[in-house]
Amino acid sequence: MERLPGFRDFFPEPLPKGEAWSADVREYIFDRWKTVARRYAFQGYDGPPLEPLDLYKAKSGEEIVGQLYNFTDKGGREVSMRPEMTPTVARMIAARERHYKKPIKWYSTPQLFRYERQQKGRLREHFQFNADIFGEDDPGSDAELIALLIDVLRSFDLSAEDFVIRLSSRQAWQDFFTKNCSDQSLAHDFFQIVDKIERMAPEDSDQKFKLLGFRLEQVRDFIDSGKPSEELQNVLDNLSARGLSDYVKIDYNVIRGLAYYTGVVYEAFDRHGKFRAIAGGGRYDQLVNLVSGGKNDLPAAGFAMGDVVLVELLKDRKLLPEFSQSIDAYVLIEDEDLRNDSLRLVQQIRDFGLNAEYSMVAQKSDKQFKKALELGALFTVRLAAPDQAMVKNLKSREETSMPLKQVAEHLV
Ligand code: HAM
Repeated sequence: MERLPGFRDFFPEPLPKGEAWSADVREYIFDRWKTVARRYAFQGYDGPPLEPLDLYKAKSGEEIVGQLYNFTDKGGREVSMRPEMTPTVARMIAARERHYKKPIKWYSTPQLFRYERQQKGRLREHFQFNADIFGEDDPGSDAELIALLIDVLRSFDLSAEDFVIRLSSRQAWQDFFTKNCSDQSLAHDFFQIVDKIERMAPEDSDQKFKLLGFRLEQVRDFIDSGKPSEELQNVLDNLSARGLSDYVKIDYNVIRGLAYYTGVVYEAFDRHGKFRAIAGGGRYDQLVNLVSGGKNDLPAAGFAMGDVVLVELLKDRKLLPEFSQSIDAYVLIEDEDLRNDSLRLVQQIRDFGLNAEYSMVAQKSDKQFKKALELGALFTVRLAAPDQAMVKNLKSREETSMPLKQVAEHLV
């Protein structure tokens, strides 16, 4: 039976032929995501992978709603697999924010599901690192998130030559729109065309803009001016104070496809433009209000980084470490009469926090030794008597005799 298109199996290294996704790489990425988030004093949270369909309708925008894995459950509820984390976290915050001191800084690493056309960098399931700040509307919080995004990418040894954060403002676009059009109901359609401007043929964009009373040239002039708005200048100054200005540039081509953004928005791209966006986010000050049906209100901002493009980029730059299983000690059981004492020894080594392996069934000693070498064990340990062990360093080949209780310490 084949797996579904757009879904992945994650195998331990070394990878079987033809398989691309490594469980070891995934663990490495999750580890970096969490480590850097904690360095910035973010706390972990999670939510359910299945949500009421209504959570996404009219909150995320048509594009994502068209990609939902939704169905009616056995209780007749309209539900959907989560395509993104932001509506879930807004729901959780709306319900429980009073319990937490502001600003609230939270991160998560959910698996998400979008029925997309499968292509490079886009699958039907992916993992994201999400980081969001609630209860602070100062641009200093946008800058804090962008600094975190930069530091997460730097933790994978990516540099300013590898990636750039393209910084823009939904508010600046809103101001441009209002100056040129009085019908606010057209704003969403206008933003959608801007969002596709880099991927669409100029004639097509121009035609679509004309239907809303705009000209492509006029929109391009605004993009090319690249003049930072006051809030963007504030973010730039904040990042510059941290020595991070090489990682960002103003780029009004970015507007973000999702419906809920209200202020500073940004996307991280590789410098050579070879890949889809690595990460994206921005300010969404009205979502908590919308999700809570007007009962609660809290400014919010955040971003998400996907694992798919990140792995493609790290592979391309040869920045993924090599993974091999490492074993501290292989316990050889040469005499089955000593199996129970050997199990006591295995347990002792593991209790000490080291990893130990052994043969679960009777096996010739040369086979056991071969297995220890295959696993790259640092030491073999065998019992000469119930309480006397022979510990061999497989690098120096030196063998030492010692009482059983001294073994674990000797292995460090
Ligand atoms: P998004 O731009 O839809 O934003 O997704 C963020 C990142 O997730 C993308 O830049 C990309 O790396 C990855 N990604 C998205 N869709 C796929 C896919 N089908 N396959 C592989 N990777 C994908 C959001 O999801 C917002 N909720 C981010 C956010 C958090 N805004 C505020 N807080």
